[in-house]
Amino acid sequence: MRTPIVAGNWKMHMTAEAAEKLVDELLPLLAPIQDVETVLCPPFTSLQAVRRALSGSSVGLGGQTMHWEKSGAFTGEVSAEMLLTSGCRYVILGHSERRILFGETDEAVNRKTRVALASGLLPIVCVGESLQERQANITQQVVGLQIRKAFEGISLTEVSRAIVAYEPVWAIGTGQTATPAQAQQVHSLIRGLLGELYESSLAGSVRIQYGGSVKPDNAGELFSQPDIDGGLIGGASLQAASFADIVKAAVR
Ligand code: PGA
Repeated sequence: MRTPIVAGNWKMHMTAEAAEKLVDELLPLLAPIQDVETVLCPPFTSLQAVRRALSGSSVGLGGQTMHWEKSGAFTGEVSAEMLLTSGCRYVILGHSERRILFGETDEAVNRKTRVALASGLLPIVCVGESLQERQANITQQVVGLQIRKAFEGISLTEVSRAIVAYEPVWAIGTGQTATPAQAQQVHSLIRGLLGELYESSLAGSVRIQYGGSVKPDNAGELFSQPDIDGGLIGGASLQAASFADIVKAAVR
């Protein structure tokens, strides 16, 4: 039995002050919801404020990216240790915005995933095809390759702590959600591939989130698919009520 996990990816939104206000509104709404792991991923500059506001709650904190090196001359980057000591337990890796806008390669995603796992962070590894790739009928190959590369050289024990997020690029921030059937098809493919690369018991225990225009009115149907274990939520995570409704929809 996999515990559903819903994470809010705030992207480049929320100053420390706005973040604190959002968490204060959110916590009472989340309090009665049981058995869903909930995570907030604010920008780095708001991590401390969110950590403070979350103290005493079971909501987890995550970074939106990290560098694979421990420290050094990498202007603008943060390390796994920096995230951990800022209170993070999770880190989003390989988000399509990082891949497309900031040139993050599969190799970089692999290095980051290895370091995150070795450091004790739980990576949320994002994969997903573009619209052109879906139209060319190569979704399976594209997502399959991203998964193979992301987890290359990573042991079964380590992979068992990873979380995968399937986020079709054409569905992110567009209001165009994958249908539950489209999403389920790719989720089951990812699970099958993890079974081939590792073993079926591992594949059965890894959580696979769906992301891409998840809203309160479509979350329930998406999350009720057998291989969808919650979601990675962008736009709808910026409002307390809509995020809480999405978390509620993940209860099994
Ligand atoms: P969206 O973003 O919910 O705004 O589509 C999802 C994501 O990018 O993680």
